[in-house]
Amino acid sequence: MYGPVLRGQVALMRPPRLEEAAAMSGWFEDLEVTATILRRFPPGVPAEEEWLRQAAADPTAIQWAVEHDGRLVGTTGVHQIDWANGFGTTGTVLGDKSVWHRGIAKEVMAMRARFLFLETTLRRLRSGYLVGNVASARAQAAAGYREVGRWHEAYFRDGAWVDMVLTELRREDWLAANPPS
Ligand SMILES: CC(C)(COP(=O)(O)OP(=O)(O)OC[C@H]1O[C@@H](n2cnc3c(N)ncnc32)[C@H](O)[C@@H]1OP(=O)(O)O)[C@@H](O)C(=O)NCCC(=O)NCCS
Repeated sequence: MYGPVLRGQVALMRPPRLEEAAAMSGWFEDLEVTATILRRFPPGVPAEEEWLRQAAADPTAIQWAVEHDGRLVGTTGVHQIDWANGFGTTGTVLGDKSVWHRGIAKEVMAMRARFLFLETTLRRLRSGYLVGNVASARAQAAAGYREVGRWHEAYFRDGAWVDMVLTELRREDWLAANPPS
């Protein structure tokens, strides 16, 4: 599934478009962008188009494109949704690194959590970040994600094995921090 339009101060979340596959694939050519995520090799345009098609049809995923200043800068979403038990795994990539550190991820994670907890029956969002990904750690913490464990020396980056910190955001914690007005 694609997610509906969500408007914030610095970011707009909206359904992705098939013709954006080339721009999206291009993000993964940059080792700086992929240093902190699991995908390290660009998928190529046909595979990216296929990913977008599959995401649109997949009932266990909700996918958004992220815009800043009227242009595509990244994607965010929740995937591997288990509707029976109410959990899914969230992720965000701002592939246009010229817009990093403007508060986009922080706002996107907050808008995404609000939508998922108030408009769907999801009750727990799983995520994580590689140790050293300060921006992701801080953005997740601001949205209410808490560390629940780690996979030790799980991924090979820049000549070393790096831990993956596992996080989750529970609906009741989010509601306590964001009471209905
Ligand atoms: C991680 C990522 C999503 C962060 O996006 P962003 O829009 O730059 O993050 P924000 O501007 O919302 O910043 C979030 C927090 O991190 C801090 N931050 C941002 N960049 C930082 C940096 N390079 N070093 C230290 N802190 C940083 C911000 O100050 C903010 O913290 P604060 O609110 O406590 O001040 C983005 O850098 C990205 O897409 N990277 C590549 C893919 C990736 O790592 N995805 C996440 C995988 S878990």
